[in-house]
Amino acid sequence: MKRFYFGTNFKMHKTAAETAHFVQAFSQTVREYAQYRYFIIPSYTSLWQARRSIDERGVPILLGAQNMHDRDSGAYTGEISPGQLKEIGIDLIELGHSERRQYYNETDPSVNAKVLSAISHGFTPLICIGEHISEKCYGISEDVIRQQIKIALHGVVQPDNVMIAYEPVWAIGESGIEADPPYIEHIHSVIHSALIELFGESGNAVPLLYGGSVNLGNAAKYARLSHVDGLFIGRSAWDPYQFHRIVETTHSALGST
Ligand code: PGA
Repeated sequence: MKRFYFGTNFKMHKTAAETAHFVQAFSQTVREYAQYRYFIIPSYTSLWQARRSIDERGVPILLGAQNMHDRDSGAYTGEISPGQLKEIGIDLIELGHSERRQYYNETDPSVNAKVLSAISHGFTPLICIGEHISEKCYGISEDVIRQQIKIALHGVVQPDNVMIAYEPVWAIGESGIEADPPYIEHIHSVIHSALIELFGESGNAVPLLYGGSVNLGNAAKYARLSHVDGLFIGRSAWDPYQFHRIVETTHSALGST
């Protein structure tokens, strides 16, 4: 049985001090609900502090970076290399978030190069995929999702260390529209079959997270869907006490299935 995940990406929010405070407050939740897996993905400038705070607290919170260059080094001003992240003790690399695709020209092939690099450096790539509203309206969500998965994972031999987050672009952020549970369930089953096509039985082991306006009101119903192995939360998890309530309510729902 897969362990359920709760994670958050801070995006361009929180200083190092605020990140330390978050870890301190959220550690309580992690101890109380130790049967789940947790991760946080702060800004680069907070990663050292986050590493230190997690280690000091001795809590099993996985630490992620919001992006990574695929090359080991080079003349790439403003970029961060795998070795630089390794030195900090990073576990996960979030790749292909829709904001990176939209504002920083991230594409399926560039995500693929980063996925291969992340795996070769021993990181877990957390690959974000999701269709735009126009693609949904044209009825091509499944095609888009399958294409994103197949290109992102091209050349990956074993998906042991891979995580996928389905985040429909139209459901993310302040202006996001909450996705209907049956729709999420359907797309997650499409992702699951694409993984089985690519990797056979090993595809079953890849955690499939859902993200996009997850909040206290919808977390439990999303968590109960089949093929949803975790919740990837933005705004609603940035307050550690609010995040705690989401874990608590999801726990009650998972316990009663
Ligand atoms: P949101 O962000 O929960 O604030 O919609 C989700 C995400 O971008 O991963």
